[in-house]
Amino acid sequence: MTEQTLIIIKPDGVQRHLSGEIIGRLEKRGFKLVAAKFMQISGELARQHYAIHEGKPFFEGLTQYLSSAPSLVMVWEAEGIIDMVRKMIGATLGCDSEPGTIRGDLSCSMGYNLIHGSDSMQSAEQEIRLFFKPDEISSYELADAKWLYGRNI
Ligand code: RTP
Ligand code: MG
Repeated sequence: MTEQTLIIIKPDGVQRHLSGEIIGRLEKRGFKLVAAKFMQISGELARQHYAIHEGKPFFEGLTQYLSSAPSLVMVWEAEGIIDMVRKMIGATLGCDSEPGTIRGDLSCSMGYNLIHGSDSMQSAEQEIRLFFKPDEISSYELADAKWLYGRNI
């Protein structure tokens, strides 16, 4: 089933010049970019985005980090993309992530972990709605869709 997921290249990803590297990995996998916004996320929006973590000991530091400098907020689309992206991102803490994942290759930090990806269809829908109006999300065909999404089994 075609899904959309919210991806945020967090402030450390932008500041460390890793936006191109991260977008490149998503593009090469064949995912379709359907929306993008470069913005400094407000403290209030960061708290809404991470509302599920409110009350946890890391919540204040987490929302301060996300709102501390500009981020690149995007929506990407593909069949089954939510789980595929979560696997590409790796474990939550950079220092725990496996090599080959975005965090495992590019981050060694406890909490600065470069990228956010929605963890379920429900959270993807909520998060996309938080950052984008429906008319800010493009609907189009990729010219190579036949080869990207082809299946013979
Ligand atoms: P994200 O939402 O940013 O994609 O990260 P995630 O799913 O891998 O991890 P999640 O459990 O949703 O946690 C959100 C962010 O909170 C920080 N965190 N710190 N100290 C800790 O145990 C801890 N746990 C989570 C991380 O910055 C994580 O990205
Ligand atoms: Mg999460």
